[in-house]
Amino acid sequence: MGAAPTDQLPFGHVWLEGKTLVHLRDDQERPTHMPRGPAKRTGPGFLNPAMAPARTRSVLLLADALEHEWLVNGDQDLRALDALCATGVRVRRWRNEIPAEHQPRLRVAANDLDRFALQWLETTHQTWPPATPATHAVEDDRYERPPSGTMRNGVFIMQNDARMALLEAAYQWIDLDPFGSPVPFLDAAVQGLSRVGFLEVTATDTAALTGSSPGSQQRRYGAKGIVDSYAHDDAVRVLLGLVATTAARHDRTIEPVLALFDGHHVRISVKVRRSREGASSVLDQMGWRIREADGTYRFVHHPTPEEVERGSGPLWIGPLWNNDIASRMTEARVLEVCSPNEEALSDARAQGLVWDDDDRKYAERELIRSVRYISQAADLMSRDHTLYHMDDLPNMAGTGQAPKMEALFTALESEGYAAARVPDIDPFFVTDAPHETVMDIVRAMLGAASTLKRETSRP
Ligand SMILES: C[S@@+](CC[C@H](N)C(=O)[O-])C[C@H]1O[C@@H](n2cnc3c(N)ncnc32)[C@H](O)[C@@H]1O
Repeated sequence: MGAAPTDQLPFGHVWLEGKTLVHLRDDQERPTHMPRGPAKRTGPGFLNPAMAPARTRSVLLLADALEHEWLVNGDQDLRALDALCATGVRVRRWRNEIPAEHQPRLRVAANDLDRFALQWLETTHQTWPPATPATHAVEDDRYERPPSGTMRNGVFIMQNDARMALLEAAYQWIDLDPFGSPVPFLDAAVQGLSRVGFLEVTATDTAALTGSSPGSQQRRYGAKGIVDSYAHDDAVRVLLGLVATTAARHDRTIEPVLALFDGHHVRISVKVRRSREGASSVLDQMGWRIREADGTYRFVHHPTPEEVERGSGPLWIGPLWNNDIASRMTEARVLEVCSPNEEALSDARAQGLVWDDDDRKYAERELIRSVRYISQAADLMSRDHTLYHMDDLPNMAGTGQAPKMEALFTALESEGYAAARVPDIDPFFVTDAPHETVMDIVRAMLGAASTLKRETSRP
């Protein structure tokens, strides 16, 4: 595949995602700094700016794996593949934003079926090369036969069906970011991982995952849902459950590191390890969420027929995150790794970026948004907790209104419990307090507030 010179591509906008210059088609509007929701697909070469936070977290996780050596030792290389890379913004960000000291150990491969998108990747990556040139050679050792692809500035670019590309080598890191459901690619992804690997999966078929499309949920995920306040969490757990059982079929076991419902998509990040024993005990982490009359829920392994009626599953009932890793995903860290300094910005401006002080401010705000609430929730999301939607509290507690979330956390913490907001578009929180304690505290807070209001309104 030859590179298409820039002047053969329609000129578009130069945009900055993280620290990386990206080239957008001229029929794609300049993105806003707060893109939300599903993008209108406009064909090959289209970049969905609403996925930028997921790509930012991918940069942070990969940098963390290299720095803290939780996937490969410090003297080993890490092979990462974006199996459905489109115009390659994610792989270019890996190459450009992972700290320079780790770049020599990072081997990056990008694959897509779409030739136009790959040409766009090649051209963009040559026009705006990574800050630290990565010079490793094409790795013949990875392939049973000579690899068919092109090495450009440290990114090995392939044009294959993803299911072929995934099986061509043993990767320690695989990213699956399809349009819609990842189901067709899961078996190959698990098989394409090395003995210990990391798999990140995006699913935009949220109607199927939540159960609002029951037929698709049953067909794709073998699950049943209830569309209520727990539907977002269910969607995450249904996808984790399918990845866990797929891994088990290939004698592998998973350990979730991060799992989020991010507006219009679900994104899960799991360590995958070869282990027959682990694979055999996968059902220990699978079960159903049964709704109770008081508005709460409990997880069970084997629901009765009556419980199935008020249950969703089967889904993953184990921990959702890894505390050590997620607690390092702080605002300071995202700015350190992914925000350009003044020098990098003036270089970028010299290369065609139009970026004023407002752009800079909004871009920083978006980076911070991509990790908002994560480090604070890391501990609870990595162990047993109960999930609440703030809007459900008035009915549950019979108070008619909900307290302020921060005040509720302070009250729970003063009783010796932990509480944290969940990263979600809706106001969810998690706590390890027993349900009755949460209710007592809510009632006490609102009772006290209404007494105070009555007292202060007296003449
Ligand atoms: C959502 S886009 C990927 C976005 C990209 N990961 C990013 O962060 O910008 C999905 C891509 O999957 C590609 N695709 C769809 N089916 C494929 C297949 N069977 N093999 C390889 N690529 C495929 C499409 O061409 C498209 O570029």
